[in-house]
Amino acid sequence: MKSQDIRKQFLQFFESKGHLIVPSAPIVLKDDPTLMFNNSGMAQFKEFFLGNGTPKCPRIADTQKCLRVSGKHNDLEDVGFDTYHHTMFEMLGNWSFGDYFKKEAINWAWELLTEVYKIPKENLYVSVFEGNPEENVPFDQEAWDIWKTLIDEDRIILGNKKDNFWEMGDQGPCGPCSEIHVDIRSAEEKAKVSGKILVNNDHPQVVEIWNNVFMEFNRKADGSLEKLPAQHVDTGMGFERLCMALQGKTSNYDTDVFTPLIEKVEQITGLKYTSNEVKDITEEQNKTNIAIRVIVDHVRAVAFAIADGQLPSNTGAGYVIRRILRRAIRYGFTFLNTKEPFINKLVEVLADQMGEFFPEIKSQQQLVTNVIREEEASFLRTLDQGLQLLDIVVAKTKGDEVSGEKAFELYDTFGFPKDLTALILKEKGMSFKESEFDASMKAQKDRSRAASEVSTEDWKVLIPGNVEKFVGYDQTENEVKITRIRKVDSKKDGILYQIVLDNTPFYPEGGGQVGDKGTLVSANETIDIIDTKKENNLILHFAKQLPENIEASFIAKVNTDLLTSTSKNHSATHLMHLALRTILGTHVEQKGSLVNPNHLRFDFSHFAKVTEEEIRKVEDFVNTRIEEQLPLVEHRSIPIQQAMAQGAMALFGEKYGDTVRMIEFGDSKELCGGIHVKNTGEIWHFKILSEGAVAAGIRRIEAITGDAVKHYFSQQESDLDAIKETLKNPQDTLKAVVSLQDDNVKLKKQIEQLLKEKAKGLKGELASQLQDINGIKFLATQVDLNPDGAKDLAYELGTLGTNLFLVLATADDDKPMLSCYISKELVAEKNLNAGIVVRELGKYIQGGGGGQPFFATAGGKNVSGIKEALEKAIDFVK
Ligand code: SER
Repeated sequence: MKSQDIRKQFLQFFESKGHLIVPSAPIVLKDDPTLMFNNSGMAQFKEFFLGNGTPKCPRIADTQKCLRVSGKHNDLEDVGFDTYHHTMFEMLGNWSFGDYFKKEAINWAWELLTEVYKIPKENLYVSVFEGNPEENVPFDQEAWDIWKTLIDEDRIILGNKKDNFWEMGDQGPCGPCSEIHVDIRSAEEKAKVSGKILVNNDHPQVVEIWNNVFMEFNRKADGSLEKLPAQHVDTGMGFERLCMALQGKTSNYDTDVFTPLIEKVEQITGLKYTSNEVKDITEEQNKTNIAIRVIVDHVRAVAFAIADGQLPSNTGAGYVIRRILRRAIRYGFTFLNTKEPFINKLVEVLADQMGEFFPEIKSQQQLVTNVIREEEASFLRTLDQGLQLLDIVVAKTKGDEVSGEKAFELYDTFGFPKDLTALILKEKGMSFKESEFDASMKAQKDRSRAASEVSTEDWKVLIPGNVEKFVGYDQTENEVKITRIRKVDSKKDGILYQIVLDNTPFYPEGGGQVGDKGTLVSANETIDIIDTKKENNLILHFAKQLPENIEASFIAKVNTDLLTSTSKNHSATHLMHLALRTILGTHVEQKGSLVNPNHLRFDFSHFAKVTEEEIRKVEDFVNTRIEEQLPLVEHRSIPIQQAMAQGAMALFGEKYGDTVRMIEFGDSKELCGGIHVKNTGEIWHFKILSEGAVAAGIRRIEAITGDAVKHYFSQQESDLDAIKETLKNPQDTLKAVVSLQDDNVKLKKQIEQLLKEKAKGLKGELASQLQDINGIKFLATQVDLNPDGAKDLAYELGTLGTNLFLVLATADDDKPMLSCYISKELVAEKNLNAGIVVRELGKYIQGGGGGQPFFATAGGKNVSGIKEALEKAIDFVK
């Protein structure tokens, strides 16, 4: 059975049991600070388990793109080494929100596996929670009794808290679970060892395929459990493992989920992957296999994350994605000998294979390919630089052991993993101190852990059962009551209180727009709200202190000065989005947006620099619509199909409901939850300040509106006045500046010429000062030239003959600089290296530098150190 059909059958089965089938949520989560990526099918439904919202149907099923690469569930380092773990995988799941419970969940799981998919019952084992007295949770008798009606008792295994009590994170909904394991070993092996003892023992062919969680509890901050108001079912089946079982394979990588990708890697590299059936492979082949598994796994995670809007970057979720891709690149680099970008070429295969079910990968194919290609190219360059640095480290090392700290430095700044450094050193008959490496790594981890420590208290609920209402589309002030509060202590922000209100005019950060600031005012006190954010369907107001009387009535007042500026920037963003699509083309798609009171920042897909002329056109387009004074037309709740039919713009990686809010200004129509001006005339004027690249195929525009434009123009004007005054008010300012520049170029040329002549004069003088030391012609001296002149002079002296070792110091503009020139034959025969010379001597002038073995320079801060640096130069030739 093809993987496509396996997926379809799962969904059809649960549809027939009254489930609503929903699409996968984006892989990158929004509105949930406790989770970076969707790590399980249930993550997008967390608010329903917590009682902060109601699902549109109490029974739901789907296949969810999951990523287990950070936080509580992290499989990254295992991937490649075994045959059944992945960074991205699909989780097939069915849910009951306060509807059916254990009986239906277990019976349906069994029916689907044994009757629809026809997995032989004798290949299956199930587990049941054995209970835990410390947690006060008893043995799951109910699940045991249900299973007993379906399967021999000796196939039911009791499991402990680690295996049979599922928790998504350190806090939140959780409960006992019942897992289904499949034994896909050969009959011969089964006869030798019973599968029962291999369950949960990391055997690659006796693996868990389905987890049925019975959500009954909420884990509180102090670690205790409380009963949830209702009982729910959360199940998750690993799609790739199911395919392995149903396709008669013994490795996920031998199923049609992975084979097309593997074939492409084989075609690109000319290497072969051996299936799991091939035994007794060489160590070399094993390494090739691991690398190929790493690559075909990681490309899926990275490609889907980018398609869902998460670009690789240096922080947060973007950094995790970058690290996954880099892991794939270096496995290719080390074990498949790929020195050119190639992983991007797999995206096409992935899009063909998955595009029907996950259209985002098809429609974003070009962008995903470009971004991956650029990341590959830049990391390969970094690896190359790292290799050069390693050469220098090796040259400077006495003996055959490099310090572990140096190896860690390579890891930290160049992404050189331990094993790669070890491998390169081994080829040179060297090694590094692992214990030192590990200690440096641990110290760094401890530092970052301490920096990100957060402790979150449980909610103190003042008014239970209230569902907070957002009134910010109509009001900026309202009478409110506090419904719950929570204290959060983090290293980053210190102690903050999160306040939830019964209704609120405060806009929570979202859709690029920053959260509102403002105050809570009661008869006796005023509390500042410093930010507003959304979390699992709650709107959290952040304050540095709590009101003394938390039960009082308050007036919640949004800071309207800030909000007005923000809304101008937000509406201008919509107009600019349309402008870009009209002027540059409909390939332009929003890839990121920030709207705050000061400016707007917009990232979008486009393959080339936006020209000056295009920038002007975009500004004119937006300003024309501002002048036209277009009124805001807000459709607060319209069916999504209707909005799309009207041509509204929607974003990839955004989760939309059946009904949406649509914002219209003339021909600009966008699905949006943000705050806007009532009429485009309020924006006053729109001005682009910068345009540049953020990643391959992604451009960024920063712009301003309203008062910020007024300030900008008046600043420009006063700058121009100052320039005119400095130039003594010429008639034509531009002409005066151009003529100054021309003069400057001419003078520079003259100076260069003069210096060259001076250097020639010096050449003769210095040639006579060369000392012979051990057959090396040595000179270290200060010259009255600029650094470029010193370089020319060094090369000039170099023409005088062989075996030259020169160190020339300059102190041009009081900036000390050392240049070292070493004849090629000395570099080759005496292992001298100008890079090392300047780095060592550079210490005396408080500086550093580098270059090539035959010529290198170092700049510094301390002119008075030149003398000592020159004196020490002789040590290198002695
Ligand atoms: N949440 C459970 C898991 O991820 C079942 O879906 O295993």
